[in-house]
Amino acid sequence: MKFLSGLSVAAVAVEAHYTFPRLVVNGKQVEDRDWQVTRQTKNAQSKSGIENPSSGDIRCYSSSTAPQVATVPAGATVNYISTQQINHPGPTQYYLARVPAGSSAKTWDGSGNVWWKFASTMPYQDANKQLVWPAQNTYATHPAVIPAATPNGEYLLRVEQIALHMASQPNKAQFYLSCSQINITNGGNGNPGPTVALPGAYKSNDPGIQVNIYNIQPESYRAPGPALWQG
Ligand SMILES: *[C@@H]1O[C@H](CO)[C@@H](O)[C@H](O)[C@H]1NC(C)=O
Repeated sequence: MKFLSGLSVAAVAVEAHYTFPRLVVNGKQVEDRDWQVTRQTKNAQSKSGIENPSSGDIRCYSSSTAPQVATVPAGATVNYISTQQINHPGPTQYYLARVPAGSSAKTWDGSGNVWWKFASTMPYQDANKQLVWPAQNTYATHPAVIPAATPNGEYLLRVEQIALHMASQPNKAQFYLSCSQINITNGGNGNPGPTVALPGAYKSNDPGIQVNIYNIQPESYRAPGPALWQG
């Protein structure tokens, strides 16, 4: 009995959970192995999602810092390789936070009211009238463009994919996420915002977090977090 329940937990972890250990910039992997500019998340082994959106894990999954910083031109398209198929329905969102003067992307923790969102995906209905999100069931997150107006400098880039298959119950959405250390070049003179803190931006009963996706129209879905900044 004990053996059987252990086995089923392992099977679920393999089929249904994932991490995003490699950043892709303009279609090219910038890490030749996992966790070189992307900070190794606490769930690197278990691959389990975060269920409590108020937890400190929601920022960068209590990751350790990474050894390198990736150069990313403003206007570049970014996405992430996933260790497993992203098989759960839910949005993919991207955030940036600028490293303060005197700090480094290699060490800064991303604390404070510093994160803005620049990309978020919306669902559509498949032939079975199920909600599906772009890049669902693929092995890489849906891409996003870093706004060309983003100023030069060091940043933390954060991706999240929110699995909503059980989200009609409280604290049953699952957040999968990564943070990477990047240096934006060829940037602009934009003034990004609105900014939020992580944790802080999300509540467990936000309409995009506690939601029955089997009972709504695609256009009525509202992803959590601040308004988008698109430069
Ligand atoms: C970021 O890019 C600028 C411009 O190329 C360069 O001067 C700076 O040293 C880079 N910083 C890091 C941390 O890579």
